Amino acid sequence: MSNIKVNLENTGFKKEELMKYNEKVEKAHEELHSVADNEDDFVGWLHLPTNYNKEEFERIKKCAEKIKKDSEVFLVIGIGGSYLGARAVIESLTNTFYNACSNIKTPKIFFVGNNMSPNYMNDLLECIGNKDISITVISKSGTTTEPAIAFRIFREFMESKYGVDEARKRIYITTDKEKGALKTLSNEEEYETFVIPDNIGGRYSVLTAVGLLPIAVAGIDIDKLMYGAKNAEDKYNENSVKYNQCYQYAVARNILYSQEKTTEILVNYEPKMQYFTEWWKQLYAESEGKENKGIFPTGAMFTTDLHSIGQYIQEGRRNLFETVISIENPETDITIKKDADNIDGLNFVADKTMDYVNKKAMQGTIEAHVAGGVPNIIITMERLDAENLGELIYFFELSCAISGKLLGVNPFNQPGVEAYKKNMFRLLGKPGV
Ligand code: PA5
Repeated sequence: MSNIKVNLENTGFKKEELMKYNEKVEKAHEELHSVADNEDDFVGWLHLPTNYNKEEFERIKKCAEKIKKDSEVFLVIGIGGSYLGARAVIESLTNTFYNACSNIKTPKIFFVGNNMSPNYMNDLLECIGNKDISITVISKSGTTTEPAIAFRIFREFMESKYGVDEARKRIYITTDKEKGALKTLSNEEEYETFVIPDNIGGRYSVLTAVGLLPIAVAGIDIDKLMYGAKNAEDKYNENSVKYNQCYQYAVARNILYSQEKTTEILVNYEPKMQYFTEWWKQLYAESEGKENKGIFPTGAMFTTDLHSIGQYIQEGRRNLFETVISIENPETDITIKKDADNIDGLNFVADKTMDYVNKKAMQGTIEAHVAGGVPNIIITMERLDAENLGELIYFFELSCAISGKLLGVNPFNQPGVEAYKKNMFRLLGKPGV
């Protein structure tokens, strides 16, 4: 069953245009599928919803149950692809005020090791106080500076709070199967360890232990998440643009890019999905932004941002297009009541629901932006649940890989990320740099 639909009616180009890319798409499809199971190519995510390690998956669930029982706080240490996917799914599928809500029984979840701010670290330590905690450290390379510094701080914190032996039982590592400093430490300390497969890069890793352990600790059904992704794997297996909506999205982006629409704004009307946008931004920016090419991916939260960057979108430079995520059925709703005095003049929406008003805001905004020269791609998902989100994650991973190939870049490397590191290490006096 198709939970995700792509609507290209507001893009300004005819659907027939898509077919001009068909040959290139078929070639890209073939290139991906022919190396999907190779150890050395970064395409392991393609068959992951079928091939995932079932033994490890059960171990993740078991560890999540232990953490839920013995911890009030769960820290996720990682940066980039090693935390954004987990955060995207957790925030999309839990209470908007998850960490602040005292009646939520699963551990509070904080993300750390994704910046170098001492304020962030000290605030977090203050906030944790005396609470029982467990931590997971996620780093494919096992050498990334931000999470390594955070782990040094929290390992010491855990060992002085619990003693070395108990701390060991509360530290969970996800890293390469054999390489890196984190793997070495993990072997020495005998931490519970999960593996990031060689052929899956950070930004494509949310459906591995990288994302699954924190997601399961938040009480989200990871079976359903994988089930949704598996639906997508089956559905988007078609090599032709004509029938494959995932590839239609990839092609539509490339058509718009060829028309000088160089910035794509992922638009949401659901604040829960703010971090989903962050995950999407990283996926597309690191995959496509290279060799002086690529669409600049950014995000907007409407209606909030209609009162800030909405002005620019309506009337600024015309190098933009929007991809709007529309959720058909809200998980909850509220009916606006009639007021006898109607002093606020709002009785015209009385008896309507907030979702109804939100949808009208969306419709009105799409009309206004399209009329203002901003093409809109609309992606509809049936509802915001684990199954749909699993499908959407796979949809964007696959369309990103195809889109990158259409653009003529390697969507699986990120050479540009090294430049700042090199300078930082030199300035810090790292030996050998
Ligand atoms: O997508 C990527 O590959 C990157 O964003 C990495 O996830 C990020 O740099 C963190 O790397 P690591 O997991 O090796 O610490």
